[in-house]
Amino acid sequence: MTKIVLLEKIHASAVGLLNEQGFTDIAEIPRALSGGELLDALSEADAVGIRSNTHLSAEILGASRRLQAIGCFCIGTNQVDLTAAMALGIPVFNAPFSNTRSVAELVIAQAILLLRRIPEKNARTHRGQWDKTAQGAYEVRNKLLGIIGYGNIGAQVGILAESVGMRVCYYDPESKLPLGNAKPMTLDAVLEEADVVTLHVPGGSGTENLINGARLALMKPSAVLINASRGKVVDIDALDQALRAGKLAGAALDVYPVEPRSEKEEFVSPLRGLDNVILTPHIGGSTEEAQDNIGREVADKLARFLKAGTTRSAVNFPEIAHLEKEVRSRILHVHRNEPGVIARMNADFAASGLNIVAQQLQTRGAIGYAITDVDAPISDALMRKLCGAPATIRCHLI
Ligand code: NAI
Repeated sequence: MTKIVLLEKIHASAVGLLNEQGFTDIAEIPRALSGGELLDALSEADAVGIRSNTHLSAEILGASRRLQAIGCFCIGTNQVDLTAAMALGIPVFNAPFSNTRSVAELVIAQAILLLRRIPEKNARTHRGQWDKTAQGAYEVRNKLLGIIGYGNIGAQVGILAESVGMRVCYYDPESKLPLGNAKPMTLDAVLEEADVVTLHVPGGSGTENLINGARLALMKPSAVLINASRGKVVDIDALDQALRAGKLAGAALDVYPVEPRSEKEEFVSPLRGLDNVILTPHIGGSTEEAQDNIGREVADKLARFLKAGTTRSAVNFPEIAHLEKEVRSRILHVHRNEPGVIARMNADFAASGLNIVAQQLQTRGAIGYAITDVDAPISDALMRKLCGAPATIRCHLI
């Protein structure tokens, strides 16, 4: 029976979906594991589900002989040695889109609150002041939203913004299909023209300090900046100076160059205490719906792999699209990507008198992955031959 181990309090939607798909041997461990405890938990596991605090190193993966698939029930996959997993023939899945909508909704809310000057009005009211003025408070209708990074989240923000009457422009170095009436523009034009600039770029050296002092200076003094992407994308001291000098009307930040590692650490930022700044603790994607969606999305990917060998959207593996298993035997074969492997495998099928009904092959870097359907039982002798072939990394019959 297939055994699945879920660590770190993964949402109940995951177990629900796995049960629906016929997987009942599921062990839930409500915390992250490491070292010997992790090895013990994985010793009998065919698949494991983790979040961000369980580290699957090359050593742990190498020792977990039975493991066939890894599900990261989150967005990031840095906690897994992806190269080692690939070399061992283990696909890794994650949930890249499950919290897209949650981030997009927060950005729209922040745009409305900032243009209405609600953060300042809220702070003043808390202090007992009754500031009823309409001065400097605007509707978002007809204002220009500038999206920097028109990927999954950026495009979703654009659609929601149009539904509340905003005009939308974006900058992305890659050519992207504009959704709705969104207009592609240069980075400088977005900064110069937009009333609300929102950042949705990836992290890393390519986007570090993308919004620096010089670029902030391009923005209108009445404009606001929203960053729910990665903390280092904005030069925080330059933003602090621009806000204090009145060169920018406000900002909403969800991510920071340095973030506390736990609830016990204090959050430190020059922006603390500024009334025209909304600060949130990296919760852009943190909603009940997103957690539920992540549970379902990753559990579905694990179930499809375990039942049919599907690797679509695996982050480290040749991708083979889902094809329902409608034959008696399906062989999943992971091998070194070198000439003659498939020819030899097919010769082994033919020598056993087996006709191949369907076969799919994909390669990625050093490895190849083939799914072969045969409408007949497969003998132990043939499985031993396929699994023992010199280029074979991993071979399963489902
Ligand atoms: P994505 O990969 O779908 O989109 C990123 C887009 O940025 C791509 O279209 C890419 O071409 C573009 N891009 C790359 N370099 C650029 C540059 N220099 N200038 C302008 N555009 C550039 O990513 P997705 O899913 O939309 O996520 C966007 C960001 O949001 C990521 O940094 C992610 O870590 C962050 N995020 C934050 C969350 C939160 O809780 N605050 C939750 C989920 C994601």
